[in-house]
Amino acid sequence: MFKKIFAWLDERLGLNALYKAILDRPEPKGNWWNTLGSASLFLFVMQAVTGILLSVYYTPSPDHAYDSIQYIMTGVAYGWLIRGIHHWGASLMVIVVFIHMIRVFVTASYKYPRELTWMIGVGLLILTLGMGFTGYLLPWNQKAYWATTVGTSIAGTVPWVGPIIEKALRGGPELSALTLSRFFAAHIWMLPAALVGLIGVHLYLIIKHGESKFPDKDD
Ligand code: HEM
Repeated sequence: MFKKIFAWLDERLGLNALYKAILDRPEPKGNWWNTLGSASLFLFVMQAVTGILLSVYYTPSPDHAYDSIQYIMTGVAYGWLIRGIHHWGASLMVIVVFIHMIRVFVTASYKYPRELTWMIGVGLLILTLGMGFTGYLLPWNQKAYWATTVGTSIAGTVPWVGPIIEKALRGGPELSALTLSRFFAAHIWMLPAALVGLIGVHLYLIIKHGESKFPDKDD
């Protein structure tokens, strides 16, 4: 019965060919260091799922943001768990993406033909850090408020364009409701959309070029 359904779908969707192209590819013998890209991908998906669940109760306004988080922690079933996973997962993702980059650097996997995979990776690192920066403000507590005041002030010290960047991030001279709503928009729409797009190209390039071989003493 299942075989028949699968054969019907396969004939129309080309599932077997898709599986062969994406998952059943010849690869050089890997090791644990090769798992860090997939671990980054897993953490991204986990952050997306827990973030979507948090958005059900979170309210991005200065009057309600703090209280909505308190409610998630104490009033919502397993809210503390979902928030805990999202909170610690964010730090873990930054660490894992960073170690993945170090591994790619140490094995010189950024060289021909993978230069573009590396460049897109740099974009992914910046976007991941951006997710952390914008997410940090959302609880709208003292730590969040002052950390973002400092962070946006640092952006303001960039020569020439600094003050423009600072004002654009804050939505005015100081942190306000505007800052919270633009950080929220960036955190749940703009940065994730850019991440999904770049991850798609990153994965396409990895499938196209295959994994690099770990250098040995003859290389
Ligand atoms: C959200 C962040 C990222 C995700 C989800 C991701 C995902 C992946 C995956 C699944 C692989 C294949 C498995 C592996 O080699 O570990 C990979 C390989 C690769 N990644 Fe990333 N990556 C991310 C960030 C980065 C960063 C920050 C860089 C460098 C700046 C980078 C550069 C590369 C390169 C050059 C390869 C090919 C490695 C090889 O062929 O040996 N990636 N990535």
